[in-house]
Amino acid sequence: RKIYYCDSVSTTNETAKELARQGAAEGAVVVAEEQTGGKGRLGRRWFAPKYKGIWFSLILCPPVLPPEANQVTMLAAVAVAAAIRKETGIAVGIKWPNDLLVSGRKICGILTELSAEMERINYMVVGIGINVNQEQTDFPEEFRESAASLRTASGIKINRVKLIRAALAEFEQWYEIWLERGFTPVLASWKEMSVSLHCQVRIHAPNKSWEGWAEDIDSDGALLLRLPGGELQRVISGEVSLRM
Ligand code: BTN
Repeated sequence: RKIYYCDSVSTTNETAKELARQGAAEGAVVVAEEQTGGKGRLGRRWFAPKYKGIWFSLILCPPVLPPEANQVTMLAAVAVAAAIRKETGIAVGIKWPNDLLVSGRKICGILTELSAEMERINYMVVGIGINVNQEQTDFPEEFRESAASLRTASGIKINRVKLIRAALAEFEQWYEIWLERGFTPVLASWKEMSVSLHCQVRIHAPNKSWEGWAEDIDSDGALLLRLPGGELQRVISGEVSLRM
């Protein structure tokens, strides 16, 4: 596969989209030492300082419709969590939809972007940011409580090259499983590593918020929330708080 290694970019997702528009092949990876305009979900920023983490984006052309693209994002969360567990022994958990947590703090986020024409996906960019070797003081004030790096969370200094290799290998394996056998095995593994299922949660969506019991995840990756009144609410996007 082709790997585009960059010193500094605004965001690897934009670079990957540009390369995809120019015809880059499926499986190409853009990785940068630093992002000056890193993007997070829900319009947030993603802080990606030089040499401190792994900031990369994968170009994919999955044979699915846009709603199923979530499956690929969840697959990425499973793959990265598995790679971290195998490579470092650190017990990472997945918080819906695709944040990775260690001791309740976020160490990895995933931002997927699609280009779809005629309702089919023609390419998909899966951007993954792993906080690896930051000190707690490297995080901006507003994230200092909620974020961590693998190093601060575990005390181990981690080799970024080994970890990205493991993550790409895991991703490839899971992507093949998904192509051959569908979402069921991916979801099973996602649920096994989940820290936000079968518990009481609060969910903040852009203009709404709910509290309830996180009952299940459906085949599009939506969270099924049992509201206090007994009604089942399907949530497709939002931010989960576990500490309530
Ligand atoms: C989130 O949890 O809000 C998603 C964060 C995604 C960060 C990664 S870093 C590589 C890629 N490039 C970006 O600008 N964002 C993603």
